[in-house]
Amino acid sequence: MRYTLSGKVGPGGLGAGVWNLGPGGDPFGGPTRDAIPIIDRLPLLAEAGMSYYEAHDHEIPAADAEKAKAKAESVGLKCAMYTPSFFADKIFKDGGMTSNDASVRTLAGDNARRAVDTTVALGANVMVFWNGREGFDFVLAKDGRESFKRLVAGFNAVGHYSKDKYGDKIRFAIEPKPNEPRANMYLANVGEALYLISRLDNDIQHLFGVNPETAHSRIAGLDYVWDIEMALEANKLFHIHLNAQDGQRYDQDLPFGYTEPLKDLALCVVLQDAKYDGIVCFDVKAPRTDDPANITDVLHVSSKNLLWLWERALKVDRKKIADLRAANRSTAIAGYLAECLYGH
Ligand code: GLC
Ligand code: MN
Repeated sequence: MRYTLSGKVGPGGLGAGVWNLGPGGDPFGGPTRDAIPIIDRLPLLAEAGMSYYEAHDHEIPAADAEKAKAKAESVGLKCAMYTPSFFADKIFKDGGMTSNDASVRTLAGDNARRAVDTTVALGANVMVFWNGREGFDFVLAKDGRESFKRLVAGFNAVGHYSKDKYGDKIRFAIEPKPNEPRANMYLANVGEALYLISRLDNDIQHLFGVNPETAHSRIAGLDYVWDIEMALEANKLFHIHLNAQDGQRYDQDLPFGYTEPLKDLALCVVLQDAKYDGIVCFDVKAPRTDDPANITDVLHVSSKNLLWLWERALKVDRKKIADLRAANRSTAIAGYLAECLYGH
């Protein structure tokens, strides 16, 4: 059984990252489960009702693309997005595109270009750039103005490479996060990412958009509904990562719908009304405490929560909201949403 969203939004099927089914290690302790080989996580995702998978280049390197594609196809899974990792390898300890070391920046460019080719090989249309280690722990360790120019140059280079080779086939989605692993990360929020895109070369700007993650907005202390509305207004919502965050602290990647169901309901309304046409993916982590047999619980809980909220959102009376807005009754709107959520 595949989880599918009804209504005219994207392809309907849901996706998740192969990294979501990890062995449960954290910065304070090692794994609590045997690591499942990446390629074997694909059938698990399919069995858990996913239609799409996502992967980093350290998980599915270019050399494994054919094998991964065949395995995915055999279980009816497609690649939603692929992403170069500028955070796992120690060479990128101070970032890729923004590293002060020119040779590291060159390597980041090489990896990004190779990732474009692998994105195509895997049959995905979206390549994500998560800001990972692009940032600083100490002020003046990097020249911020210079770093921004390096980001512009780096994204321009990969955009031109892709356009020259594949036309408009691949779209790039920048995923913002304010901190962790760095104390301060460049492209900390959707607004910063949109500003960066506005500085890219005119002929490739249309290839760049954002991949907001609901929990990342929360870590920044921001409202994710507004972050996503802003991306939609700019016509830049190229991808989305849904999850939950319990307070403004370390990145938790909790099941979608767990902490703020009322906001999640509002988010569904926003996506439905905008006729969002991208793939909806979860970025949720199988918790360290879950046994191997239950490693996909996090996907089932997220999917069921989303489907319930989605169906309720379809029934939200838009006219009623408009009338309450016109009557300046914002508290009543909050009450109406609660009624939609908790009522019959
Ligand atoms: C990392 C981040 C995650 C991001 C992914 C793709 O795993 O934690 O939020 O979506 O990389 O770049
Ligand atoms: Mn994410």
